[in-house]
Amino acid sequence: MRVVIQENYDKMCEWAAAYIAGRINAHKESRPFVLGLPTGSSPLGVYSRLAKMNREGKVSFKNVVTFNMDEYLGLPREHEQSYWHFMWSNFFDHIDIPKENVNILNGMNPDPEKECADYEKKIASYGGIDLFMGGIGVDGHLAFNEPFTSLTSVTGVRALTTDTMIVNSRFFGNDPSQVPSKALSVGIKTVTDSKEVLILINGHNKARALAASVEGGVSQKWTCSALQLHPAAIIVCDEPACGELTVDTYKYFLDVEKKERL
Ligand code: GLP
Repeated sequence: MRVVIQENYDKMCEWAAAYIAGRINAHKESRPFVLGLPTGSSPLGVYSRLAKMNREGKVSFKNVVTFNMDEYLGLPREHEQSYWHFMWSNFFDHIDIPKENVNILNGMNPDPEKECADYEKKIASYGGIDLFMGGIGVDGHLAFNEPFTSLTSVTGVRALTTDTMIVNSRFFGNDPSQVPSKALSVGIKTVTDSKEVLILINGHNKARALAASVEGGVSQKWTCSALQLHPAAIIVCDEPACGELTVDTYKYFLDVEKKERL
């Protein structure tokens, strides 16, 4: 696993956007490049940079197909806190991606289990995901795979923990009871089956999760620790998120990344 430590949030986003654009540009096959995407505050800076690069002609999304990580169950697309709404207003409306290339789980499907099974099939029909970008929750959840979700899980319906509902209530008038208690989410295996995984971790409040992901054992308590078993996982993080790493770990990753650039 690579851990790329950047000085601050801006530099972290700069690095991630350049990495993703580089991967899309290097993709010379006629089949589309398949990109997994998250919501949340962490990716916002990456989305604005990718949109800017798109405007400047440095990257195009015309041959990119996207699959989002998750969506609240029972929230209509038009709801301003739906992840569908988030993705269009923060990213897709600002890039040249064909509408039909965007895939987001439909939280209003009366048969959510079928919605999830069909999503897995659709990912498989493209030959899997080339690069999955993600963020994590303060409890280390990846997509909506809360602690103790199986590390071999695939797309399905998930119950949110009270902790996550409290954290996400900042988008629902600070009232946890307004946060949907369930979501549709890709599984841990859906993410780790991707050819590459790039996870953004920033801020002091993610420091425990970063340390658990990198230094702890692989454990379903910290679902993001499953990345340790992935052959090409990258965590890009900012300095504040490194607060719980041991000095040795911190120095190790700075050292190897310096050599990576040589
Ligand atoms: C939600 C999403 C996750 C996201 C997490 C962190 O719970 N389901 O996919 O990674 O929030 O969000 P933020 O980046 O705002 O901290």
